[in-house]
Amino acid sequence: MVPKLTHTILASSWLLSATARAHAAPNRPNIVFILTDDQDNHMGSLDYMPSLQEHLIQQGTTFERHYCSTAICCPSRVTLWTGQLAHNTNVTNVNPPWGGYPKFVQNGYNDHHLALWLQQSGYNTYYAGKLFNSHTVHNYDSPPVSGYTQSNFFLDPFTYQYYNVSTTRNGAPPTNPVGKYSTDILAESAQEFLQHALEDESSPFFITLAPIAPHALVGEGSVGAFDPPQVAERHQGLFPEYKIPRTPNFNPDSPSGVNWVSNLPKLDDEVVDYNDEYQRLRLRSLQAVDEIVGSVVARLEEAGVLDNTFIFYTSDNGYHIGQHRLHPGKTCGFETDINVPLIVRGPGIPAQKVTRVPSSHTDLAPTILQIAGIEIDDKKFDGSPIDLHGIGGEPRSEHVAVEFWGYGLAESIFGRKDGPPVYPNNSYKGLRIEAEDYGFYYSVWCSNERELYDMKASHIHSQTLERGKSLIDATVTINGKQWPLEKVVDRLDALMMVLKSCKQQTCIHPWRSLHPSENVQSLSDALATEYDEFYRGQVKVSFTKCESGYILESEGPQAVHAYQDMRDYSPDDEIYDPLKQQVLVNPNWSLWE
Ligand SMILES: *[C@@H]1O[C@H](CO)[C@@H](O)[C@H](O)[C@H]1NC(C)=O
Ligand SMILES: *[C@@H]1O[C@H](CO)[C@@H](O)[C@H](O)[C@H]1NC(C)=O
Ligand SMILES: *[C@@H]1O[C@H](CO)[C@@H](O)[C@H](O)[C@H]1NC(C)=O
Ligand SMILES: *[C@@H]1O[C@H](CO)[C@@H](O)[C@H](O)[C@H]1NC(C)=O
Repeated sequence: MVPKLTHTILASSWLLSATARAHAAPNRPNIVFILTDDQDNHMGSLDYMPSLQEHLIQQGTTFERHYCSTAICCPSRVTLWTGQLAHNTNVTNVNPPWGGYPKFVQNGYNDHHLALWLQQSGYNTYYAGKLFNSHTVHNYDSPPVSGYTQSNFFLDPFTYQYYNVSTTRNGAPPTNPVGKYSTDILAESAQEFLQHALEDESSPFFITLAPIAPHALVGEGSVGAFDPPQVAERHQGLFPEYKIPRTPNFNPDSPSGVNWVSNLPKLDDEVVDYNDEYQRLRLRSLQAVDEIVGSVVARLEEAGVLDNTFIFYTSDNGYHIGQHRLHPGKTCGFETDINVPLIVRGPGIPAQKVTRVPSSHTDLAPTILQIAGIEIDDKKFDGSPIDLHGIGGEPRSEHVAVEFWGYGLAESIFGRKDGPPVYPNNSYKGLRIEAEDYGFYYSVWCSNERELYDMKASHIHSQTLERGKSLIDATVTINGKQWPLEKVVDRLDALMMVLKSCKQQTCIHPWRSLHPSENVQSLSDALATEYDEFYRGQVKVSFTKCESGYILESEGPQAVHAYQDMRDYSPDDEIYDPLKQQVLVNPNWSLWE
């Protein structure tokens, strides 16, 4: 009874305040967005941040199943600020011609992004830290980044130099405060922005703080020479006992994955020790970020605006160290790389709550516009607002689209010991399904290798899938029932077919492309036996070549066939079946485009 009552009160007070806001713009909430760089969600990093625990996790909701869709900085950040998947922004990597700030500009996104929309609707907007890769001391003003009232951007090639960063303040020529720790520069910007924002009582504010931590240190000109992050002097030597959790997928005895991952040798003790220290350095580098969480909350509280401020905390992508025998890095579709922290506190958001409803970076721009009371329908989002207040409404779907183009990268001294730390042909599509009773990660690589992970199994349970071979006898459990693996994979592959080239509503409601009648909304619905033949005959995800970017011709067929319920047809209708390449006269069901 009691929890139910609380729930109702929360819901109605939120609805009331939302209505009130629509009529009284000055009360629109403030938004602080803290975006770390490469922070893990699977090696305990959040547990080592006491202020984050106290002010955000204890006071807000943790979205345990929040994902990035492309596990590398620039594409992921462009997705965050535009609400679009990388195959729609075509910002698919960190440097031109595939990505980076120049590509963001070239593709028109400097006129189409979250901060700009907030600014146009009356918000004061601020950004400090790293915006995108290839945003440099040379191109910072050609053109300048749009949409910010004040800014202090970290610029390449010095972005990842913790003690030698170059910054441009409000578009001025770059300066280089040598010897100053970059996260502490950010802390100062945060206080200056807050001061400026609080002086203008008539406008709400949106502040993004994007520290480098815990990203690797990258020296100038030494592309690929990644070393562990540098730590502020006051945080050196912390957590000497910490070790990376020895989960079943940590440095396993048998190789895992497919493609280049399956060729990785087991890491020896020297590397494992180095990697443990690597992660300790990452945890230490996050301490200066944790201090910012504390100082920002303190300033908001002192100014009396904390109750009307949403604070988001997330990371552009996740990180692996040692899982699947991997050297430190990201770029994979594994849970370590795609599942990122997301914690939100703010007006009406339940405190101390953990939710497992899946969400993605595509959802954050629409979520933020919604709480700011701004129209979202015209913005071409591939995601939809997250139910921050836990009040239900439209049921959320269970899928997250994942995609990657280019190379994998080993970010440590051991990763580059035997040659360039680069793994070519790391282009793949991924699909993460997360429901209460089942969870899968399915992936198709540009080599046409496919793999499936049962995310609810207590051990690593991966299958390298060879069509028609290893699938025959295997089964997976869904809703307490055993299903032939091949049937499940047929469904997942069809959903991936939709998602790999989806736009807007087809990304949000992908099952509708397969079942226009809308009577299938989930994997569980799609498993009905009556659809077996339809899914078996469906177009399959495939590649003709491994590319470094989004080259449509190399990505196989693009369109799916939709299931047609023949009850919608009169007996005289003739329907062309593009798979069988024949006209079906009065079939009971068929495939059509
Ligand atoms: C520090 O940054 C300056 C440019 O601002 C650069 O010239 C110098 O080489 C950098 N120092 C190191 C050690 O990389
Ligand atoms: C990458 O894939 C291409 C085919 O797309 C192949 O020719 C090449 O050998 C592959 N390279 C490696 C290193 O596997
Ligand atoms: C994406 O950008 C690359 C590099 O400019 C270009 O070659 C490719 O055709 C683009 N892909 C699509 C689908 O527009
Ligand atoms: C259509 O399906 C029904 C029931 O499954 C079956 O009785 C009937 O013979 C089928 N009609 C045709 C034309 O195949």
